[in-house]
Amino acid sequence: MKRTLIAQALDSKNDNSRILIKGWVRTKRDAKGFSFLEVNDGSCLKNIQIIVDASNPAYEILGEVNTGAAVEVTGALVPSPGKGQKWEVRANDIRVIGHADAESYPLQKKRHSDEFLRTIAHLRPRTNKYGALFRIRSESAFAVHQFFRNRGFYYLHTPIITGLDCEGAGELFRVTTLPPVSAEPEEADHLFEADFFGKEASLTVSGQLEAEMFACALGNVYTFGPTFRAENSNTPRHSAEFWMIEPEMAFADLKDNMDLSEELVKNLIAHVIDHCGSDLELFSRFVDKNLVTQLEIIAKESYVRLPYGEAIEILKASGDIFEFPVDFGTDLQTEHERFLCEKHFKKPVIVYNYPKQIKPFYMRLNDDNTTVAAMDLLVPKIGELIGGSQREERLAVLKQRIDESGLNRDDYWWYLDIRRFGTAPHSGFGLGFERFLMMVSGVTNIRDVIPFPRTPRHLEF
Ligand code: 4AD
Ligand code: MG
Repeated sequence: MKRTLIAQALDSKNDNSRILIKGWVRTKRDAKGFSFLEVNDGSCLKNIQIIVDASNPAYEILGEVNTGAAVEVTGALVPSPGKGQKWEVRANDIRVIGHADAESYPLQKKRHSDEFLRTIAHLRPRTNKYGALFRIRSESAFAVHQFFRNRGFYYLHTPIITGLDCEGAGELFRVTTLPPVSAEPEEADHLFEADFFGKEASLTVSGQLEAEMFACALGNVYTFGPTFRAENSNTPRHSAEFWMIEPEMAFADLKDNMDLSEELVKNLIAHVIDHCGSDLELFSRFVDKNLVTQLEIIAKESYVRLPYGEAIEILKASGDIFEFPVDFGTDLQTEHERFLCEKHFKKPVIVYNYPKQIKPFYMRLNDDNTTVAAMDLLVPKIGELIGGSQREERLAVLKQRIDESGLNRDDYWWYLDIRRFGTAPHSGFGLGFERFLMMVSGVTNIRDVIPFPRTPRHLEF
């Protein structure tokens, strides 16, 4: 017999059909004359209830069935008299596929803390909360591809190993095949020479520079892949390995970029609300009671668009005490970003035209010579969800920005070439996929929305 997923079984229209279920036991309860098993196979949040009569020869085997065991059940799908479920299975036969030791199985019936579950990241997807979260993660990833595909964007795979620091923040993980040696700075070049690529190599912090090349050939492209940053900040919003969605559009300016970012966020939220109903409900019940209301605001209301200079004025006039003081020229910290969208505007805010000295070299210089055509999309609870810009398409200006940033023009010869041959205005941004998942689930620590988190001093699994 073909295996039926529990999601399908619970959705069934047919009474009394014979089915085969495979899954892991969540609980076992004994009553007079029969036992109940709650089995989950990961296909949905709900378990299916299995009833085993004491008169059934399979009843004997229940002694071996503990929480966590993998089992196979054949039986009839019948209407359930119990509350909360339409169907249950009257077992004909039960087989234990894999035993679990009741004493040492770490997932007990009680609720475990997120901190504890992080230490068993290999088992936490078997809990209701993490099962739901990672189904939402999967569905959201598909929604990203669907969004861009429907709009004629091509999906581009940019390299994971690179020779450049796109963001210029020096947060690179080095890639090497050489044995570890501690080199004096003056010997470093010599060492890189002997290394696999014959030059310094690292894991990418962003696929943007390469995406620009393809936007200036295929028109509209996007990348969606892992990025790596050796930021030694142990914050609940930073991870050393995270996934980023980076669209890049040719013949597009900052306004087009803001429009796309707003449309993308709204569309992804609407998709999750439409397709992940019961999983999402778990988060609005147990994690954040206002979750769905908040998501509906973000999915429906139009976002505030605010020049950086005005944002600074609002923050200065707010009377709020911030840990980091603000003034024109300082970068916005999470506390400022959250003030703007949680307290002041009560909805997402796109801040644009940041001072050039706090932004990377590739952002287009504005006519005022002090700001660049940058944009950050800020959302309640998270702060920065998206960072992007219109790119500098003027060769002379770009060369000067590279010099000013202390970078070497020769390293960027191909990046400059695009400005030599048919240069065109183009724009793009990066959306942090984990931050998006934190927003839709209400989960407040980035370690809990990525299957196996990588953070400073943490590389288990
Ligand atoms: O603002 P960022 O640094 O922008 C870029 O990397 C651009 N090259 C993107 C582009 O224009 N194509 O990063 C983009 C987003 C941030 O807004 C944030 O959501 C996320 O990536 N992000 C992180 N997420 C988790 N952990 C980290 N350490 C992150 N750093 C950035
Ligand atoms: Mg940023």
